[in-house]
Amino acid sequence: MDTAQTAFNPFDPAALADPYPYYRLMRERDPVHWNGPIRAWFLTRHADVAELLRDDRFSADRTLSERYVAPPPGRGRPGKSMLIVDPPDHTRLRNLASKAFTPRMVEQLRPRIEAIASDLVERLARGRQADLIAEFAYPLPVIVIAEMLGVPARDRAQFQEWSSVTVRGLDPFVDAATQKAVFDARAALTAYLRRIIARRRREPAGDLITAMIAAREAGDFLSDGELVAMCSLLLVAGHETTVNLIGNGTLALFRNPDQLERLRREPALIRTAVEELLRWAPPVYWTGRVALEELDLGGRRIAPRQSVFGMLAAANRDPEVFEDPDRLDLGRDPNPHFAFGRGIHFCLGAPLARLEAQVALPMLLERFPDLRLAGEPESRPTVNLRGLARLPVAY
Ligand code: HEM
Repeated sequence: MDTAQTAFNPFDPAALADPYPYYRLMRERDPVHWNGPIRAWFLTRHADVAELLRDDRFSADRTLSERYVAPPPGRGRPGKSMLIVDPPDHTRLRNLASKAFTPRMVEQLRPRIEAIASDLVERLARGRQADLIAEFAYPLPVIVIAEMLGVPARDRAQFQEWSSVTVRGLDPFVDAATQKAVFDARAALTAYLRRIIARRRREPAGDLITAMIAAREAGDFLSDGELVAMCSLLLVAGHETTVNLIGNGTLALFRNPDQLERLRREPALIRTAVEELLRWAPPVYWTGRVALEELDLGGRRIAPRQSVFGMLAAANRDPEVFEDPDRLDLGRDPNPHFAFGRGIHFCLGAPLARLEAQVALPMLLERFPDLRLAGEPESRPTVNLRGLARLPVAY
C-alpha cells in the first residue's frame, strides 16, 4: 500500500477491508490529517481524540459544519437529540434519560436479558447451523430496548428496516439516492414514534416513553420534537450497536482461537474480555465534532466550521497507550479504549451494552461448546457503524 503518494482516505475499499495498517500509517505520518475530497480532519492518535472529545471549542452539533447536508424542506424540523447538542441543552436532555441507564437500573434488567438470551439460544439449539446475526446478535438488543422504551417488539421488522437505513446517514459520504433513502427512513421512523407516543399518552405504561411524557408534562423540560428525537436515538442506538458488539466480538474470538479457548476455560474473564472486544473490534469507528472557532490541534490549524473526525478505532490501537495494540488479549487491564466515546457524550447505553454482551457471549459459548465459523461472514454496508450482515455458524 503506497499511501505516501496519495491522500489518506480511510474509506477507500482497500482501507475498509483492513483499516488498521492504514490507521497506523496515518498515525505515524499524518496524525491530524486533512482530507480534501471528504472535507474533514481525521485524528488517529489516542491523545488527539481525547482532546477532541474534551475541548468545548468543538461542538457536537453536526448541523454547524460547512459540510452538513440539510434535509429537504417541507418535512418539519425534527427536534435534536442529545447526541448532537451542546450544553446547556445537552445537560438537560441527558439528565432526563440518564436515570434509566445507571449501572444499578440496568443491573435490574439482568434477569430479563438472561431470559431473552436463553430463549434465543434454545431456538438456535433446535438446528445445527444458523446466521448468528439474524438469530441471536440482532434480536437480543432489539427486544431489550423495545421493551424498555415501550415500543411493541412485534413491530420489529418495520423499525429495523428504517433504523438500518437511518444509520447510513452517519457515513462520511453517501450518494444522492442513499441520502434520500436516509431522509425517508428518518421521516417514517419519526411518524411511527409519534403514533406510539400518542398511544402512550392515552394509555400510560411502566416504560421509558411514558416516563418521558410525564417529565415533559410535569415541567415542560423537553419539546415535542426533542421527545421524538430522544425516542428515536434510543431505539436506533439501542439496536444498531450492540448487535455489532456481539457479532464482531464473536468473529474476533473465532479469528483468535487461543483467546476463545481462554474464555471458555476462564469464564470469569468476561468483564475484561468484553472491554477488549470493544477495543479490538469496535461497533462505532469514529465520531465527529465541528470547530466553533479557529484553533490548533496536534500542530495543525483548524478553521471554524470544519468537521473533525475522531477515529475511535484508530485510537484504540495507539501503541502509545496500548501495549502490543494489534493483539487481542482478553485479560487486558486497564483498557482505556474509546469504543463508547469519552467526555460528556460518553455512551449513555454503555452499562446496558456491556451487560448484554456479558450475558450473551458466555451463554452462547456454554450452550455450544463447538461453536464455529461455517462460511464467509458478510459485512454491512455502513462504514462508521461497522458490523456484520451475516455470520454463519455451526455447532
Ligand atoms: C456496544 C454498543 C454501543 C456502542 C459501541 C456505542 C457507542 C457510542 C458512542 C461512541 C457514543 C458517543 C458519540 C459521540 O461522542 O459523538 C455513544 C453515545 C450514545 N449512545 Fe451508545 N453505543 C452502544 C450502545 C448503546 C445503547 C444500547 C444505547 C441505548 C439504549 C446507547 C445510547 C447512546 C446515547 C443516548 C448516546 C448519546 C449520549 C450523549 O450524547 O450524551 N448506546 N454511543
